[in-house]
Amino acid sequence: MRRYLLGILLLLKYCICGDVQDFDGDIKDFVVGNSKLFVLTDHRLHQMRHDLYEEKTKDITRVNILVPFDANGTLITCGTFEDGYCEVLDINNITDSIYYESNLLVGPKQDEKSVAFISGRYLLVGKKDDDAKPQDTRYSVVSLWNTLQSQPGGIFSKLAEGSDAIIQSTVRDVEFVDGFQRVSPSESYLFLNTKTDNERKVLVLRMNSTKEKKIDIIKSLQSATIRCCSDKVRPVLVACTVIPSVNGVIWAGVFSAQNQQDPENSALALYDISNVQGRVKSFCANDEKPCGSESGSELQPLSVVFKYSSMSAVAAVRNGSWIVLFIGTSDGQLIKLILDDKFTPGCPTVLYKSDDEQAVLPRMHFDPVDYKHIYIALKKQLRRESVVSCAKYSTLKDCRAAQDPLCGWCVNTHRCSTQDECSDTSWVSIPKNSLETQLFSFQMTENSSRKITLYLSLSLESTGNPAFSCAFTRGTMKLCDGSDLSAAFPNCSCSFSDQMLYTGGLKVSVTVEDQKITEMLTLRNCSSITENSPNASYTQCVQCISAGCHWSSSSQRCEWTHGPGPQLNIKDACKHLLSEMDYSKPEILSLEPNKVSFHGKKNVLLRGRNLETVTKIRIQGDLNCISKESPVFDRSSDTLRFHIPPSGTKGTVKVCVVTPDARCHGNTIITYGS
Ligand SMILES: *[C@@H]1O[C@H](CO)[C@@H](O)[C@H](O)[C@H]1NC(C)=O
Ligand SMILES: *[C@@H]1O[C@H](CO)[C@@H](O)[C@H](O)[C@H]1NC(C)=O
Ligand SMILES: *[C@@H]1O[C@H](CO)[C@@H](O)[C@H](O)[C@H]1NC(C)=O
Ligand SMILES: *[C@@H]1O[C@H](CO)[C@@H](O)[C@H](O)[C@H]1NC(C)=O
Ligand SMILES: *[C@@H]1O[C@H](CO)[C@@H](O)[C@H](O)[C@H]1NC(C)=O
Ligand SMILES: *[C@@H]1O[C@H](CO)[C@@H](O)[C@H](O)[C@H]1NC(C)=O
Ligand SMILES: *[C@@H]1O[C@H](CO)[C@@H](O)[C@H](O)[C@H]1NC(C)=O
Ligand SMILES: *[C@@H]1O[C@H](CO)[C@@H](O)[C@H](O)[C@H]1NC(C)=O
Repeated sequence: MRRYLLGILLLLKYCICGDVQDFDGDIKDFVVGNSKLFVLTDHRLHQMRHDLYEEKTKDITRVNILVPFDANGTLITCGTFEDGYCEVLDINNITDSIYYESNLLVGPKQDEKSVAFISGRYLLVGKKDDDAKPQDTRYSVVSLWNTLQSQPGGIFSKLAEGSDAIIQSTVRDVEFVDGFQRVSPSESYLFLNTKTDNERKVLVLRMNSTKEKKIDIIKSLQSATIRCCSDKVRPVLVACTVIPSVNGVIWAGVFSAQNQQDPENSALALYDISNVQGRVKSFCANDEKPCGSESGSELQPLSVVFKYSSMSAVAAVRNGSWIVLFIGTSDGQLIKLILDDKFTPGCPTVLYKSDDEQAVLPRMHFDPVDYKHIYIALKKQLRRESVVSCAKYSTLKDCRAAQDPLCGWCVNTHRCSTQDECSDTSWVSIPKNSLETQLFSFQMTENSSRKITLYLSLSLESTGNPAFSCAFTRGTMKLCDGSDLSAAFPNCSCSFSDQMLYTGGLKVSVTVEDQKITEMLTLRNCSSITENSPNASYTQCVQCISAGCHWSSSSQRCEWTHGPGPQLNIKDACKHLLSEMDYSKPEILSLEPNKVSFHGKKNVLLRGRNLETVTKIRIQGDLNCISKESPVFDRSSDTLRFHIPPSGTKGTVKVCVVTPDARCHGNTIITYGS
């Protein structure tokens, strides 16, 4: 059995995983051009097709700048060999050298981080000043180099009108992390860490690259400090990416508190960097006096979307109002995280995990042809991973539960797939702004002749008009009054006499084309939920909303709704009552045992305080926000027992206790071992 499983696992490994290419040396950098990919290892430059087929290699020495210049059909390389050099290669044939110049140092002298990209018609390079002398007070950190022979001063000149086109800093210790060129309007952004005796800071520099003259680009410098985050200071930028956006410039950075022991050492935060205004102290155009001022703004996060012990890389794509983030970690994982238009994160999913836990290099790139693959580098290996894995979901319900806007149910192929793998009118997917919405929502009205109407709505969206029907049953009985059942994708409704509310749960089956989805609903008499206790409470409000009723904040009562409409989520509808908690919060003191095998464990003993109100136990994996729940038995006010379900993997999970108001208290860890 074991061997059989192993066989299947091996098979899966070879079928699902993307393309892989191993190199004989460590990968130092890689870049993606319009039609090729270039990988730099210690002694070699590799030219590859987008599918990782290697076309050519070139022996090189100590290259530290690698920039594709697609508009010119060239690849710019510079290095430290002898007194430094730059070479321009044919982008489709790197063995063809178009231009070579020696005695020229463009990139960093030592093995340091630097940033280089094409800014307008120039090569913009950000790096630490390697030539600084002890008596220097200003350091040259950003320079603009010509890329064409026809520019004043010729190719690889940094001369501008009068002086060098450089940005200076009065801080010696700078580390450039990344940068990018915005196309319209044409602007260059650079992101760096600075370190002085008493402070570490993250800065953004912005320049207007529409300007004709190099000196005017340099003089257009604006800068700001970037802060992360309110829970904890994380003063070091590790990796970052710009998120394609119609309005503004949304940027995501991975910030580190530099404490590997801390499970929330690194945070991924989003910022609007479109209005970087003013200048921070210590950064200025060549010879400007004084160097910078304190007028530069401080940017605070729009949203902090993910925390993890060790993120090392980030990349992003947009699909409509959705943002899809790809996160690399120092322990070799590639994680995908969806954000809705309010930057609310969905469930993180692991797209790839390396066996030997090599760190993912900070820069990741997409296949520019269709953005369906992402390239990641791990030490000696380059991988091309698919950004979607819809095929692993085999039902409409699972496909929707994945909360991935790139995956939808294709009704005519009966598969979970991307939109372009499905005919235009057959794709059923997650609607906008619905990461926090359950698949099923329902509301109830009562009219004067004591008829209840139940309106059911599925959180699904379709490009077509799929066949849709609903069946409401209690036991073997039909619920609805014969004729009035109506259904139009994705809603249906059913009316029945209020006498039906006396009995328990109601089973609803919904059929979308060939897919049947079933759910148990618990219906209650809305008017009776608050009837016997005049004081409004959070728990009552939660019960009211969960029963498809309306919470009236003016009368503090639960009522029938007035008709179909979106079911509010509990968090929003009841938040004004949170301060009026009507119970003592439960606390978890210990769990016995707190280490279990991955088969799970029966009869785990939980000790704590105020456990009377606990309704169930919730068990949440580290990266798996779809939690498991376990019922409670043998309860007293300071102990209770429950079963820990089996887990597919080793690792730690968090345990918390759920109260009737749907809140979960406590945060105790259980470790699954072998
Ligand atoms: C690539 O460039 C080299 C050197 O110029 C040349 O010998 C070779 O024919 C070129 N290959 C192709 C496919 O153009
Ligand atoms: C690319 O740049 C090189 C070096 O300046 C120049 O000789 C060549 O004409 C340029 N090619 C194009 C297509 O602009
Ligand atoms: C950038 O420079 C161009 C050309 O001088 C100018 O028209 C434009 O307004 C500038 N953009 C900003 C944001 O200052
Ligand atoms: C969003 O993803 C779907 C499915 O892959 C694709 O067909 C569509 O073109 C994408 N839309 C955008 C705006 O990228
Ligand atoms: C109450 O609702 C039922 C079912 O929709 C309907 O048949 C009935 O006419 C309604 N009665 C009144 C008074 O609106
Ligand atoms: C629902 O509750 C109200 C208020 O307690 C009561 O008057 C009504 O009879 C109840 N209806 C049913 C069907 O139980
Ligand atoms: C209702 O609230 C009042 C004042 O807050 C309190 O004195 C009373 O005991 C509460 N009644 C119930 C039934 O909780
Ligand atoms: C379905 O119901 C939702 C909420 O009840 C409503 O917003 C939406 O317009 C309805 N859609 C259709 C096609 O009736």
